[in-house]
Amino acid sequence: MMGIERTLIIVKPGAVVRGLVGEVLSRLERKGLKIVGLKMMKMTREKAEELYSVHKGKHFYEELINYITSAPVVIGVVEGDDAIHVVRRMIGPTNPKEAPPGTIRGDYGLSITQNIIHASDSKESADREIKIFFDEEELCSYSRADELWL
Ligand code: CMP
Repeated sequence: MMGIERTLIIVKPGAVVRGLVGEVLSRLERKGLKIVGLKMMKMTREKAEELYSVHKGKHFYEELINYITSAPVVIGVVEGDDAIHVVRRMIGPTNPKEAPPGTIRGDYGLSITQNIIHASDSKESADREIKIFFDEEELCSYSRADELWL
């Protein structure tokens, strides 16, 4: 038991316009992860720059900011045992061409710039990224009915 963690996921513009929001969220739910926060928004350039501040100056930075602000995104906080690591494993490597079948990036795309989901890569990132998009009172605590079986 690693302990209960919360992590941020962003279903990116490509997935929203392709109608894949439900499929992506449903994979996380089926795994046993609990959605404790969820919203749709058109990300502002300001929020995008805050989220991706570590990538500023990299060759793909402008493309990345343009993509994430190009259409609405669905942003969620998911909770579960060792959730940060588990969600990263489920989404797969950054480059969808390298992401194995069975992972979200592996199953739904080809483009690294336009990959369809983001998830926090560490506890520090999760804490920082959740705060960019959610106030504490927007996150819900509840029990899943199947919790004892997960
Ligand atoms: P994400 O997990 O949202 O975090 C940063 C994003 O930058 C990443 O997904 C990719 O979409 C993008 N990215 C990372 N590396 C590259 C790269 N080499 N070329 C283009 N985009 C990249």
